Amino acid sequence: MIPRAMGRLKIGVLGSGKGSNFRAILSEIQAGRLDAEAALVMSDVEGAGILDLARAAGIPAQVIREPKFRTKLSPEVEADVVERLRDAGVELVVLAGYMRMVKAPLLEGFPRRVINIHPSLLPAFPGLESWRQALEAGAEKTGCTVHFVDSGMDTGEIIAQAEVPVLPGDTAESLHARIQVEEHKLYPSVVARFVSGELP
Ligand code: GAR
Repeated sequence: MIPRAMGRLKIGVLGSGKGSNFRAILSEIQAGRLDAEAALVMSDVEGAGILDLARAAGIPAQVIREPKFRTKLSPEVEADVVERLRDAGVELVVLAGYMRMVKAPLLEGFPRRVINIHPSLLPAFPGLESWRQALEAGAEKTGCTVHFVDSGMDTGEIIAQAEVPVLPGDTAESLHARIQVEEHKLYPSVVARFVSGELP
């Protein structure tokens, strides 16, 4: 195991939604079980719950304004995101329900230091609403995956996964809710592996 530089691991969190994965990581930090610090939270959605969670915890919360595209950021906007993350001292970029593709500026700015959580057992069901995809495909099990982010859609190297059975009578909502229970355990556990230096 490679020891990290001294101090708490500074993470930057990007999300587009309600931020329950961010909340799960923050809870572990606040409980003293995760030696990390959420240095900056950013969202491409102005009213996203993840920003409210950050503000309520006294963590800097910033909006990413992208006027041109819906599924990615323009290169200059993404370069500005990198600069803001760097200014905040971020060492690990944690995508938590961030719904845009990541491009070269962020990947080159933080090589092997951008991770994502996805609600399926990748490589199965990449893309949107993966829990619904699993249900409609008649899968017996699904789950969640934490992976390094690369330029593909949900294609980066897998770090950790947790399984969730698809139960008779499951709806898209009930299945996603059970996947999220696992996400909230899996994501903090992976961040802890960066803190310890286990993930170089
Ligand atoms: C999570 O289920 C996450 O896996 C998914 O969005 C949800 C965000 O929830 N991410 C993706 O689908 C990424 N392709 P949260 O805002 O409550 O953390």
